[in-house]
Parts: sequence; structure tokens; C-alpha cells
Amino acid sequence: MDLFEALYTTRAMRRVKPDPIPLNVQEQIMDAAVRAPSGGNAQGWRFLLVDDPGQKAALGPLYRQALGVLFEGHYKVMREKAEAAGDAGTLSVLRSAQHLADHFEAYPLLLFAFTRNDPGGGSIFPSVWSAQLAARAFGIGTALTTVLGLFHAEEAMRILGVPEGKGWQLACTVTFGYPTGRWGVAPRRPAHEATHRNRWGEPAGFTTAEPLWSPGQVSPNDGRTAT
Ligand SMILES: Cc1cc2nc3c(=O)[nH]c(=O)nc-3n(C[C@H](O)[C@H](O)[C@H](O)COP(=O)(O)O)c2cc1C
Repeated sequence: MDLFEALYTTRAMRRVKPDPIPLNVQEQIMDAAVRAPSGGNAQGWRFLLVDDPGQKAALGPLYRQALGVLFEGHYKVMREKAEAAGDAGTLSVLRSAQHLADHFEAYPLLLFAFTRNDPGGGSIFPSVWSAQLAARAFGIGTALTTVLGLFHAEEAMRILGVPEGKGWQLACTVTFGYPTGRWGVAPRRPAHEATHRNRWGEPAGFTTAEPLWSPGQVSPNDGRTAT
């Protein structure tokens, strides 16, 4: 698959079918994930794949509780503001996040990513994103979530049998499944609004009115020689 298509269309795909992910596909995804960079190439990561219904059943209620804490706290204000402003995009993300929580046990595969000596997460999230991109290449949708680790890490790690006192932290949980919907370009504020040049606040030097890749479009580097 075209790299730019993967970069532009790998979105949070939370509505999925129950079909299992073949083991050789899981192997390829994880083999791609461990190619990612980590500080000092320490590879201080550990990944736990969960497809056992009993484990999912034990974790699901915890996940829902964790999301409840978030939704009753910080996200409550966000939801109220979005409702008042008729911000359909934000309301849709919140609905979709709730859908994931409500269907946690129905995802055929969950990936729990652990890291240590990595306070900023810089040595774990590249590998997680690589796993998500590799899944995208197989037409598998993923959703990265952190809410379980934020509010119920200890209980989740106990269920998962993570050794205590070794410094492991639950960085995130990623759901995997074949999507029921279609892939599309992720809507985002344009690049030039998030980018400055030389000094904060200065213009980036480009204005990107529309995404520079769209379905069916030739990739920026196609047919060109690297210079
Ligand atoms: C650090 C991080 C934490 C996230 N945590 C959650 C989460 O706890 N639950 C959830 O449903 N989605 C979570 N997401 C997914 C975001 O909501 C999603 O990436 C964002 O809404 C953009 O969605 P899109 O790529 O489909 O446009 C998280 C994403 C990131 C990068």
C-alpha cells in the first residue's frame, strides 16, 4: 500500500466486525512494530496481545469505568461546549469513544503496550503507531486509547499479569478489527496553522488549503528520483 495513503487514512476505526485477525497477520504487525525507533535503541517495550474472552471480560468494565471518569471530569465541559456550539465533530468523537467502551469485549484483538524509563512515551508511541500503520496495510482498523492506563492501570496490569516493581507502565491500549465503515482522509486543521518557521508565531512559508493527498492521487514521491 502507498505510504501516503496509509499516513493520511489511518484513523481511529472503532466500529469493527468480530472476525478474528489471523495469527500470521498479527505476527507481521508486531514484527513491523519492533522496527520502530526507541531512545538509545533500548527497546524497553513489551506488548501484550489479548484475544481471550475471559481477559477481555475482566478488562471491559474497568475500561468503561475509566472512560466514565474522563467523561464526568474534563470531557464533561468539552461535551457541554460542543453541544452549545453545535460542534458535530467533537460530539462524534465522544460518541465514537463511548462506542469503543461499550463494545470493548467485542474487538477481536487488543494490544497493550508497556514501557519503562520512558516518562514522555517517546520510546513507545512510534512502535504503537507502526503497529497501527501495519494493520492499516492489512485493511485492519485500530484505535489508540490511553484512558485505561490513566485511571485503572494498576488493576489492568494485575489482570494482565504484569510483574510488579519492575517499572513497567501501561502506555496505551489499541483495539484491532476489520472496520464496518470506509477509510477516509483524517480531517485536521491545516498544516500551516500548526507550523511556524524559525520563530514561534512566524508563518511556515506554505499554505496548505487542502490535504495534499486524496484517494486515487499519485503520491508526492511517485515517479520522482530522490535528490
Ligand atoms: C494519546 C492519545 C490518546 C487517546 N486516547 C483515547 C481514548 O482513551 N479513547 C478513545 O476512544 N480514543 C482515544 N484516542 C483516539 C483519538 O480520539 C483520535 O485519534 C482522534 O479523535 C482523531 O481521530 P481520527 O484519526 O479518526 O480523526 C487517543 C489518541 C491519542 C493520540
